[in-house]
Amino acid sequence: MRRLPFITFEGSEGCGKSTQVQRLAGHLDRLGIAYLLTREPGGTPIGETIRELLQFAPHNSSMTPETELLLFEASRSQLVRETIKPAIERGTCVIADRFFDSTTVYQGAARNLDSEMVERLNVFAVADCVPDITFVLDVDAATAESRMQKPRRPDRMEQEPADFYERVRRGYRDLAKREPNRVVLIDGSADPDEIENQIWKILSSRFSAVTGNPQSAKIARPAPVPDPKT
Ligand code: TMP
Repeated sequence: MRRLPFITFEGSEGCGKSTQVQRLAGHLDRLGIAYLLTREPGGTPIGETIRELLQFAPHNSSMTPETELLLFEASRSQLVRETIKPAIERGTCVIADRFFDSTTVYQGAARNLDSEMVERLNVFAVADCVPDITFVLDVDAATAESRMQKPRRPDRMEQEPADFYERVRRGYRDLAKREPNRVVLIDGSADPDEIENQIWKILSSRFSAVTGNPQSAKIARPAPVPDPKT
């Protein structure tokens, strides 16, 4: 039986993924399609407590990379079992603002923890709950920075130096190359309306296949984003 897709959004801070999550939710509202929005870390009472510990808790600057990795996985394993899996089983579309690719990229590629260990822990945390499609919004550090005009103090991750975010960007681009059937790399510096249209072009046929809605569109892939290294 066809089911509604489990969709994830990824990218570095300031890439515009939260805007696109909201815009996709708007499309589903208009079509009357049930969906669940999640964010990570967080999304459950336990996960939100872990989020606070990871981002703003006093003394968290002494957190080791290994502890950080395990906390992200702990938050995710709770979210999957308490919220995401039950939603998928009820036939609800799930839209996640970050999922296990964030750990692959931030803790694996950027923190340089053992990538096999990171993958094993990802699998342990999510079991068989794997996204059907993942949109990575690719932006350079300057664009990301210009969009991060937050009135609050930066959280622990946001205090990382520029080269950390270069590794994050590279990590996502490598991921898109490794998993082209699942991961769609989108130029996040484009106009938000254009990005919304690109994403909806790719997704609308997946929804019409399940709901029979006539607003289908051919599956279209956005033009590849040029590699910053070349
Ligand atoms: P954000 O969702 O508001 O961007 O904040 C989440 C922060 O946590 C962001 O800096 C990315 C980071 N993060 C990881 O380092 N690993 C993870 O597995 C997840 C989910 C997030």
